[in-house]
Amino acid sequence: MTTQLLLVLVLVLNPTAAGTWVLAAVRTDRPLLWVVLATGVTTAWIAVLGSLWARGWWFVQEQVLVTLPLVVVALVGVGLTLNRDARTRRPRSPSTLVAILACAYACAAGVVLALVVGYPVGPLSAGVVVAVVVGATALTDVLLTRGSKRLVVGLAAVLAVVLVGSVGSAWLADRSTVIVGDPHGAHDMAGMGDTAANGSTPVTDLRIPADTQGVVRRVDLVARQQQVTLPSGKRVSAWTFGSLPGPAIEATVGEVVEVHLTNRDVAAGVTLHWHGYDVPNGDDGVAGVTQNAVLPGKSFTYRFVARQVGTYWYHTHQDSLEGLRRGLYGVLVVRPSASPVADVDVSLPLHTISGREILGASDLLTRQAVPAGASVRLRLVNTDQVPQTFGLTGTSYRVLALDGTDVSGPTPISGQALRIPAGGRVDVGFTMPASRVRLSVSGVEAVGVLLAPDAEAPDPGADVPDRVFDPMSYGSLRAEPGMAGPFAQTVTFVLDRQPRFFQGAPSYAYTINGQVYPHIPSITVDQGDLIKIRVVNRSFETHPMHPHGHHVLVLSVDGRVPTGGPVWLDTFDVQPGQVWEVALRANNPGIWMDHCHNLDHAANGMMMHLIYRGVTTPFVLGGATDNDPE
Ligand code: C2O
Ligand code: CU
Repeated sequence: MTTQLLLVLVLVLNPTAAGTWVLAAVRTDRPLLWVVLATGVTTAWIAVLGSLWARGWWFVQEQVLVTLPLVVVALVGVGLTLNRDARTRRPRSPSTLVAILACAYACAAGVVLALVVGYPVGPLSAGVVVAVVVGATALTDVLLTRGSKRLVVGLAAVLAVVLVGSVGSAWLADRSTVIVGDPHGAHDMAGMGDTAANGSTPVTDLRIPADTQGVVRRVDLVARQQQVTLPSGKRVSAWTFGSLPGPAIEATVGEVVEVHLTNRDVAAGVTLHWHGYDVPNGDDGVAGVTQNAVLPGKSFTYRFVARQVGTYWYHTHQDSLEGLRRGLYGVLVVRPSASPVADVDVSLPLHTISGREILGASDLLTRQAVPAGASVRLRLVNTDQVPQTFGLTGTSYRVLALDGTDVSGPTPISGQALRIPAGGRVDVGFTMPASRVRLSVSGVEAVGVLLAPDAEAPDPGADVPDRVFDPMSYGSLRAEPGMAGPFAQTVTFVLDRQPRFFQGAPSYAYTINGQVYPHIPSITVDQGDLIKIRVVNRSFETHPMHPHGHHVLVLSVDGRVPTGGPVWLDTFDVQPGQVWEVALRANNPGIWMDHCHNLDHAANGMMMHLIYRGVTTPFVLGGATDNDPE
């Protein structure tokens, strides 16, 4: 059974158990039968909880530590009171009824713990839940057996205070201010006004020297509002970097990429973030962390050395949910100087704008005449919020690169679909056959690419194979020196969805370890550290996790280790119920975002920072330029 199914079963059985206990309390026909039934459902719930535990402690922690003891105590209570009723040969006594209702409360507590508290349950929330269950049971007991009005009012008041107190403290915590970056560094800075003396480095110092030598690849990008007419004739009001997608930035490894960004009229402001490109932190383009948002009329110049070869992309990181959705993105391709570039080398970002998908620059099928024997490289980029699945049919092909990194020993495959996480990239290559080759996107019939020796060749139609390519068993095994450990630290992040206060308002937020941005504790590292990051998805949605400034090596997914070539990613798709373990080498100092690349999720809490000790930032969230990274 999949972990996701177990999660669903637990979520169904738990309230069912609570409901059956309530029925057992109120149904006077066959009272014993109802108790037996409720005990049965409760036992089933505990059994499923056991199987879920086998998948990982993070899936069950709050249930095992809090709910289970409460349920067991309440069940024992039911057994004892029923036994006493039997001995005294009386019909059901009020104490039995209280014990039965206590079972209902305990099971209901499980529902609250799963849906509201989640992982990890701390002593405070555990205490509140236990207090409420015990208090409610005591209240029931007083009502049913004693009927003392004063006691009832007193207990009810205590319960109300506990509940209001916990909601209030959650609200206060949300309102508390957060210092981004190393808080000690920031404190030193404020105290001494001297950054060099105390060893703290502002992000603005983490840039390449102004006199860095090399061939300069200069690009000007102007962000603007623009009416774009797509090839189908549909008009969209977009925000662009000059075109939709933005101009492809192409460089050769070793060059100095210098991009001059100007904002013409995007009122919310823009930045440029180099997705997957491990630039120096000062050029990472995160509003409120590494720079201020670039407002209309303003500009910012990014400069970095193109050290990594491969397929990457850029997008705004100021209000990026809105900005990216409206079109503020483009591809970044860096080619090796020496090796030959394929005869046909096409970048194909897939993007949804105004409910319309565009592949490359077209919302229709693109045709290209390619002579048989030509080498072809397709660079597939998913710039959407959800995973997209591509099919390449009519040829066998090799998966040359994942998230920009070359795959070791790629072998030809066919009949497999390519699932690309939000933000991810897959490069494929093949030698053009004498017949047609078709690229299709699952669920999006309108777009595609048709390559054929004859540009007029009829379209064979969209085709996406059912079987999905598995990077974990592809390519040839190769050790990655220095990545196997020892780990300076192992951090665990449990992804979930829970009601939380977020930016001052109640929200059904996307949480990491039960918290929301910017209150999620940062991962703090020292330069050179090797760390293990474990990500557990307890929710029912996919979370493409994206650490900025670093690539991670996949160690395992659900305990399965790669049997193919090393899998290096910058965006790893943690699907519901999955547990990923990745290794990250801290070799790029800064204050980095680490977030879900479904930007709806990021904008609703699922973001955090990876910070290097001693690095500080002069920028703030909000502020005069209204910095809002997502
Ligand atoms: Cu594609 Cu935070 O980025
Ligand atoms: Cu997500």
